[in-house]
Amino acid sequence: MNADKMAKMEVKTSLLDDMIGVGDMVLLEPLDEDSFINNLKKRFDHNEVYTYIGSVVISINPYRSLPIYTPEKVEEYRNRNFYELSPHIFALSDEAYRSLRDQDKDQCILITGESGAGKTEASKLVMSYVAAVCGKGAEVNQVKEQLLQSNPVLEAFGNAKTMRNDNSSRFGKYMDIEFDFKGDPLGGVISNYLLEKSRVVKQPRGERNFHIFYQILSGASEEFLCKLKLERDFSRYNYLGLDSARVNGVDDAANFRTVRNAMQIVGFMDHETQSVFEVVAAVLKLGNIEFKPESRANGLDESKIKDKNELKEICELTGIDQSVLERAFSFRTVEAKQEKVSTTLNVAQAYYARDALAKNLYSRLFSWLVTRINESIKAQTKVRKKVMGVLDIYGFEIFEDNSFEQFIINYCNEKLQQIFIELTLKEEQEEYIREGIEWTHIEYFNNAIICDLIENNQTGILAMLDEECLRPGTVTDDTFLEKLNQVCATHQHFESRMSKCSRFLNDTSLPHSCFRIQHYAGKVMYQVEGFVDKNNDLLYRDLSQAMWKANHSLIKALFPEGNPAKINLKRPPTAGSQFKASVATLMKNLQTKNPNYIRCIKPNDKKAAHIFNEALVCHQIRYLGLLENVRVRRAGYAFRQPYEPCLERYKMLCKQTWPHWRGPARAGVEVLFNELRIPEEEFSFGRSKIFIRNPRTLFKLEDLRKQRLEDLATLIGKIYRGWKCRTHFLLMKKCQVVIASWYRRYSQQKKYQKIKSSTITVQSYIRGWKARKQLRELKHLKRCNEAATVIAAYWHGTQARRELKRLKEEARRKHAVAVIWAYWLGLKVRREYRKFFRANAGRKIYEFTLQRIMQKYFLEMKNKMPSLSPIDKNWPARPYLFLESTHKELKRIFHLWRCKKYRDQFTDQQKLIYEEKLEASELFKDKKALYPASVGQPFQGAYLEISENPKYKKLKDAVDEKIIIAEVVNKINRANGKAASRIFLLTKNNVLLADQKSGTIKSEVPLGDVTKVSMSSQNDGFFAVHLKEGSEAASKGDFLLSSDHLIEMATKLYRTTLSQTKQKLNIEISDEFLVQFKQDKVCVKFIQGSQKNGNIPTCKRKNNRLLEVAVP
Ligand SMILES: Nc1ncnc2c1ncn2[C@@H]1O[C@H](COP(=O)(O)OP(=O)(O)OP(=O)(O)O)[C@@H](O)[C@H]1O
Ligand SMILES: [Mg+2]
Repeated sequence: MNADKMAKMEVKTSLLDDMIGVGDMVLLEPLDEDSFINNLKKRFDHNEVYTYIGSVVISINPYRSLPIYTPEKVEEYRNRNFYELSPHIFALSDEAYRSLRDQDKDQCILITGESGAGKTEASKLVMSYVAAVCGKGAEVNQVKEQLLQSNPVLEAFGNAKTMRNDNSSRFGKYMDIEFDFKGDPLGGVISNYLLEKSRVVKQPRGERNFHIFYQILSGASEEFLCKLKLERDFSRYNYLGLDSARVNGVDDAANFRTVRNAMQIVGFMDHETQSVFEVVAAVLKLGNIEFKPESRANGLDESKIKDKNELKEICELTGIDQSVLERAFSFRTVEAKQEKVSTTLNVAQAYYARDALAKNLYSRLFSWLVTRINESIKAQTKVRKKVMGVLDIYGFEIFEDNSFEQFIINYCNEKLQQIFIELTLKEEQEEYIREGIEWTHIEYFNNAIICDLIENNQTGILAMLDEECLRPGTVTDDTFLEKLNQVCATHQHFESRMSKCSRFLNDTSLPHSCFRIQHYAGKVMYQVEGFVDKNNDLLYRDLSQAMWKANHSLIKALFPEGNPAKINLKRPPTAGSQFKASVATLMKNLQTKNPNYIRCIKPNDKKAAHIFNEALVCHQIRYLGLLENVRVRRAGYAFRQPYEPCLERYKMLCKQTWPHWRGPARAGVEVLFNELRIPEEEFSFGRSKIFIRNPRTLFKLEDLRKQRLEDLATLIGKIYRGWKCRTHFLLMKKCQVVIASWYRRYSQQKKYQKIKSSTITVQSYIRGWKARKQLRELKHLKRCNEAATVIAAYWHGTQARRELKRLKEEARRKHAVAVIWAYWLGLKVRREYRKFFRANAGRKIYEFTLQRIMQKYFLEMKNKMPSLSPIDKNWPARPYLFLESTHKELKRIFHLWRCKKYRDQFTDQQKLIYEEKLEASELFKDKKALYPASVGQPFQGAYLEISENPKYKKLKDAVDEKIIIAEVVNKINRANGKAASRIFLLTKNNVLLADQKSGTIKSEVPLGDVTKVSMSSQNDGFFAVHLKEGSEAASKGDFLLSSDHLIEMATKLYRTTLSQTKQKLNIEISDEFLVQFKQDKVCVKFIQGSQKNGNIPTCKRKNNRLLEVAVP
């Protein structure tokens, strides 16, 4: 490479300034194979094993552990943009995981490369990254652990040391990791493809059998080995190639422990693990069975087992009847049309049968292991899952001798290339059309034609191989090649010396027993030998039946076709057609997912670090089509992103869009790109996405963003620090103000209190002094005043006395003057008028003066007259002493006159009432205590309306006189003093007592028979009506009654008696009087009683002489 080219290549994007070479091959200038390899080499030499082609990751196997997979690195790449950091497998894993989690897109990670390029390691790195960044929790961690631990198990059984790789995967593996909507792993499904089972029985020089055989022998305990009937020595076993039993840097024993531990974690039961190792042991021991020829009498070659000890042990281990297995190694039964034909096997056939059995046992065990692991790691829920598929499949293989396996493997790679084309190139072009981006179609090689050459159902090589295998008659690999030569001769990608096409007749590089295919990755020459056999993959039925009969559940399960009840005469599908079908399923599966590519490159054949074999790398670059990949990438747009996230990511680069863009995101992106002056040819606006042609532009954007973020961070930091300082300052200031104010207040308070107390002291002194002074002054003043008063008083006294004396003197003098004057005048008048006055003149003057006084008196009296009320006691005072008698007389006359006037207003009835009241007054006033209360009560007489009330009709009918009193009274029972209600009637002539309820007259006493009425002087209504002795009414005795209207009744009785009999009724008022009860005279005695019954007097017959009335 010339210096110019190198110089150009040195040009770095700013983002990649600290990068070695060019991180993204799309930026490589100039783009050719040399510069490509040089860039890889340069990066490789500086430990940069990852390089991008757009979103594809190229990984070069460093063959040593680099410190770039640490947890810190995981954190660094976590949630970062793909282009943000230097290329790394974690960036791709993160991108895939995030778009699975956030955009709900199923992902697949396609890892390709040749053997030893680092595919398996890459797949493990992807898995461990996803495990590290996805959710956590006990359940999730267990799922993760099981998924991760499935690797050592499968590697132990499926990997082997080869010339190219000490840990070469001898099977294809596709693993679907399933996630829930949150992105937490739920489980997984593993698919395996075509285990290289031929390795079980034979390994090329310098290679080993599958790891597990060595691991058991090195790692298992003596006891366990004994159980498995194994010996530790590798050389004891024919199936273990001797020359490379130990691998440098590999500790088989430690790995055995790892595998057993992993099996436990994945969920293998102890008996399952045991069975698995038993099968492995049986396979190993099968290799030790040897046959020797034995000629039989019929001339047929027969084989015989040399040493049956091994066979015996195998049978013990697997629970197979020894004779059955022995027979299966010696005979072959062919069933055709219900006919069973048994033929003996010669030594070669016996060896073939033995190896076939070993291969089948092992490969079926491997498939069983995958199924068993799947059972353990399958997702437990039925919720919708998101899937990330990781494909670690054998890479393109071009060896010196290529056989059926390489053919199959390369076919698989052709299909992968197909899907790469489908998903990347085609999809890319279609996206441009979808997004309305102008796009000039790019020619790329579509390997569909090669796929067709191999898989076409009629003319495909696989179809032809199947046809050959099924064809009756002698079938050999040569007949197969002949057939190919006929059918495929004209195919552009098929080359054969013997074909009809004469093109290759003279091509000496192409042996006669070979055919050559121009794969997309280069020409590969296949040795046709072994194709038919390998495709047939025959296991004699006798063997599968013998296996089915085994008393070992796992082995029995591995050979279901051995069950005689399910004999299937149909041939089992050939290896080729099986593989074709599984590859077709895989392709279908991959097509539904978003692909992510990791292209692994092997730097040297020596498995050594630091060696970069340019020729080897160049070869890989060619067949991986990486340059082609870069060109497509370059022709198109390296980067695309929907407008919203793009604007969100870069909006801080333009003032108009920062911090918020209001409007459609596309317009925002347009403004942003204009502002940043990005050349127009560098980007295109699609319908929903922005397309950026060159990663350089993207890096520039990223770089600007980084710078801007730094600025923003500085700004934020600045503002934050400013804010913090300011808040701190403000707080301090506030505190200072508060403290100062408190302090000032405190000090002022102190000062004030001091001043106040001193003021008070001073004040009190001053006040005291002032008060004392004032007191002194006041006392002085008072004394002065008092003195002045005394003096004044004395003075006034003196003056007054002097004045009085003077006035008295003056009055005496005036009086003396007046008297003298009067006397003198009198003397003068008498002297003058003596002659005119007669002797009676004095008398006339006296009378006249008297008349004048009387006149004045009456006139004054007229104005001072009191009211006309008879009870008004007012009377004007007497003016002159000599009118005393006149004044009294006048008062009496006036009173009589106003009484008359008052009386004149009354009607006759009123008069009667007043007469009665007057009578009562005369009778009881000051005699009976009950009287004053009766004055205000009008005398009604007929309290019971006898004539109106129908209840008293009978009574009314019995009395035909005018009723004066009708009232209810209590008649005191003479015997016990208890009261009973009676109606008391007073008519003109009679006193009647009637029953209150019935109105029947009980007693009738003519007024003439009533002699006396007695009552107490107290405040009670008791009275006794005394009857004339001997009268008819008096037979029962006197009546002792009690009434509320005693005064009225007694008065009316008195008046009526007086008017009827003209005799005054005797009314006796005394607190002790006698009454006549029948023959006895009983004393009624009124005593001051208790107030037990309120105001009601109680009557009690004490003995037959005494009736006591308790008056309250
Ligand atoms: N990233 C890596 N860092 C360190 N060593 C690595 C890395 N990748 C691969 N190796 C080394 O390379 C060896 C081969 O890698 P790996 O088994 O992944 O190859 P492969 O592509 O799977 O090959 P095959 O197709 O044979 O399975 C590993 O055993 C490991 O020692
Ligand atoms: Mg591998």
